[in-house]
Amino acid sequence: MVAPLKVGLAGLGTVGASVVRMLEHERAALALRCGRPIEVVAVSARSRGKDRGIDTRKLRWVADPVALAGDREIEVFVELIGGEGNPARSAVTAALATGKSVVTANKALLACHGVELATLAEKHDAALNFEAAVGGAIPIVKTLREGLAGNVIERVYGILNGTCNYILSRMEQDRISFEECLREAQRLGYAEADPSFDIEGHDTAQKLAILASLTFGTKVDPSAIYVEGITSITTADLEAADELGYRIKLLGVAVKTEQGIEQRVHPTMVRKDSAIAQVMGVTNAVTIDARSIAPITLVGPGAGGMATASAVVSDIADIARGIRVAPFGRPSARLAATRKAPMQRHEGGYYIRLLAVDKPGTAATIARRLAQHKISMESIVQRHRGPPPANPKRPAPVPVILITYATTEDAVRKALAAVKRDRVTSGEPQLIRIEKN
Ligand SMILES: NC(=O)c1ccc[n+]([C@@H]2O[C@H](COP(=O)([O-])OP(=O)(O)OC[C@H]3O[C@@H](n4cnc5c(N)ncnc54)[C@H](OP(=O)(O)O)[C@@H]3O)[C@@H](O)[C@H]2O)c1
Repeated sequence: MVAPLKVGLAGLGTVGASVVRMLEHERAALALRCGRPIEVVAVSARSRGKDRGIDTRKLRWVADPVALAGDREIEVFVELIGGEGNPARSAVTAALATGKSVVTANKALLACHGVELATLAEKHDAALNFEAAVGGAIPIVKTLREGLAGNVIERVYGILNGTCNYILSRMEQDRISFEECLREAQRLGYAEADPSFDIEGHDTAQKLAILASLTFGTKVDPSAIYVEGITSITTADLEAADELGYRIKLLGVAVKTEQGIEQRVHPTMVRKDSAIAQVMGVTNAVTIDARSIAPITLVGPGAGGMATASAVVSDIADIARGIRVAPFGRPSARLAATRKAPMQRHEGGYYIRLLAVDKPGTAATIARRLAQHKISMESIVQRHRGPPPANPKRPAPVPVILITYATTEDAVRKALAAVKRDRVTSGEPQLIRIEKN
């Protein structure tokens, strides 16, 4: 019998406890698939007495995760504590520095210190596996790093945050306001008490930084990403999108352009018949456009104990099999620096919702300004007027929805600034980028 792979696991919360459970339940099958058993020998968490629904009596308890990372008995250190700082960072560093392989689900740690940790892993010939950090159970890291190694990838984009997709799906399907959907998501445990990291797009950005690195060989760097969240999206936008054949999704997009790699996170209109538009609720999805093959879309649970454990266990299994791949698919010294792409240069179609003042010449003024900036219209829809205003002498403005053909963001912003100066609209326009798919 081959000696078991000895694992030390730090963090026994939602994911950690599920990993212990899965390794126990699938023990025999994993031993067969990997050629050797996998055995958790020591664990670490904050509170020893907590009931976690798993039997920890046989497992050695090490109070300090950094001490566990350096423990001589273990070959693999599994970090499921979370957070970009210590103890997660110091524990992972300690493990790699002593040549131990590491498995982590910690997107924040990788987004902030991924290159430094990958360099350390390579120096000590250790694996640094992080399938669970993006897309939960979806094997997107392996797909990009290994499964598509022979392809030139032009674009990767996806729904990477279940909370945002849940809110947008509910708003669209049941015409419920953003605030109400958020409260519901919090009640159901899909959103944090402080949801800002999710709804303002930063969680998606951290995951996108990892995907972009794997796809384009760039240094993981969330500061190179343009980020816009979903808080400005209204049911009126979702209704209009629906009528025009679109859905609105918070997408993380990394795409090769003539100016370099563009990385952005923002609410996006996608055609209703596209694969990504079918993804509703907390589910995640990633689409990969590679040069010589039709697009690939992977869909699955992006979070939850067992979903995340599935990816963590697959990473541990790779180590048991002796598989070592450079963490970001190439030597970390060869990862290229990346800059934030200026959004003025972004090219694509746009959805614009304006509140047009009801007076003669308004439509002609708007059309002239758009034409001056060489913006062509795919469609123009006038929506129902809002409720009557307090002053009946001033009729309520009329919502007008414009869908443009491909243009630049610079042209759209300049045209809208000119329309504003013309005083034919009220309030701020809503602008949503359309992603070709
Ligand atoms: N939950 C998901 O669906 C999901 C999905 C994808 C990725 N992830 C990632 O997986 C990781 C773990 O997430 P989770 O949801 O399992 O978190 P969690 O439920 O909050 O669990 C965190 C664990 O870390 C332990 N811990 C915290 N501080 C510690 C310290 N100073 N020393 C030792 N142990 C400490 C906690 O101990 P106590 O239990 O004693 O408090 C707890 O067991 C994070 O990086 C997260 O981003 C989670």
